Amino acid sequence: MTTLEQRPSVSTAIPGPSSSRLLERQAQRESSVRTYPRGLPIAIRRGVGSYVEDLDGNVFIDFLTGAGAMPLGHSHPELVEAVAKQLPVLTHGLDFPTEIRDEFIAAQLSMLPEGMRSRMRIEFCGPSGADAVDAALKLFKTATGRSDIIAFQGAFHGSSHAAMTVSGLVAQKERVAGRVPGVHFFPYPYPLRCALGGGAASGQRCLEYLEHSLRDPLGGVPLPAAVIVEMVQGEGGVIPASSDFVQGLRRVTRELEIPLIVDEVQTGGGRTGTWFAFEQHGIEPDAIVASKAIGGMGMPVAIVLHDERFDAFAPGAHTGTFRGNQLAFAAGVASARIMRRDGILDHVRDLGAYALGVLEGFARDHEIVGDVRGRGLMLGIELVDPSTGEPNTSAAGALQRCAIERGLIVELGGRGDCVVRLLPPLNVSRETLDQAFEILDSVLDELSPVASRNGHAPRSATI
Ligand SMILES: Cc1ncc(COP(=O)(O)O)c(C=O)c1O
Repeated sequence: MTTLEQRPSVSTAIPGPSSSRLLERQAQRESSVRTYPRGLPIAIRRGVGSYVEDLDGNVFIDFLTGAGAMPLGHSHPELVEAVAKQLPVLTHGLDFPTEIRDEFIAAQLSMLPEGMRSRMRIEFCGPSGADAVDAALKLFKTATGRSDIIAFQGAFHGSSHAAMTVSGLVAQKERVAGRVPGVHFFPYPYPLRCALGGGAASGQRCLEYLEHSLRDPLGGVPLPAAVIVEMVQGEGGVIPASSDFVQGLRRVTRELEIPLIVDEVQTGGGRTGTWFAFEQHGIEPDAIVASKAIGGMGMPVAIVLHDERFDAFAPGAHTGTFRGNQLAFAAGVASARIMRRDGILDHVRDLGAYALGVLEGFARDHEIVGDVRGRGLMLGIELVDPSTGEPNTSAAGALQRCAIERGLIVELGGRGDCVVRLLPPLNVSRETLDQAFEILDSVLDELSPVASRNGHAPRSATI
């Protein structure tokens, strides 16, 4: 394969003619559920590092990176080699022990804080994040004999039946009858627009409300089987939970003997600058669900790490054909080794701090940027209507569109998809980040109402 130029270059309209052909065939033959190519209309030929090339030869910086499943970018040569080496040996092993599975388990356990390593068990389930969420909910219902679950507004835990039910996204679930019963939603700290009042005290208020509801004999919420929470709500708009909230949540759940599940499907594997994001709050959850990045290069694998006290499944109580993808194990082992060897977590923290500084500059310079936030290399830019402060869905859509036309792929999330989400590979270079920021800055300039008042109308979109 020829090398891919390490800078964005777009020489056709988006989509170009070859991409258009495949997009049309896709629209004719695939279900209407297809998602990403609607906002990002390209057909992909290949990916190398932080870049992808479409069928028309356009090169884009890829800050979607398989929705976070490509922690070391595309086609990392050592990961390709590790998978290629495993391919002729064994690809599928159900849940039989194999050497590479054993190495994968050792690698995952070794990444936990020391005090947790010996008491956590690892459960393999179906390979998606939603599978792991379902498995964890079922495990804690089994272990506690209770049936209710507490989740948070703004959460996203996946699209399977149970994972969808504990997610906040109303549009996804309101057309589905017979949802999993007994799910109670509580406000999640969101300084910009918290249901209980914004600002820095948002975490404290959310915690007090939750604690009061759980302790109140007339509070309406029976003792739940588990609380499930993200340390940074990703799809919800890149909203990091404050430490006072997370630590308080751990205290309350301990005092009331409610198992605490942290969903690290998106944050796990180094995305926020520590292997798991909960580490930054000094807590120890009862269970962690992880997927995405732990498969190294988009290889399918998901796990539930849980305290051995909750090892309640009888043999066969949660089976699944795809619990032993040996290629995912090989990629995951190699990826964890590279992360350690190359000091990737330090790199994520350093570049994350640098990136947040640049984004803060965007917030100062552009009125439509209502907030910027993130942890490590999980970053978000919330676009607002400057006159009302309300989510600015159309500006975010226009930004995504203008950015891809200039060679940058970004995802949207949050309320009304008003948050531009950046998920660069964890080994992204400063140079690539700067290329991306240059594109974002130029697009923000054009989208800003001030710029249009000065006669610079938005180039390819109305806001
Ligand atoms: C926090 C979180 N949990 C669960 C999921 C679901 O993962 P999957 O899409 O692999 O089912 C996602 C997906 O984005 C996620 O961000």
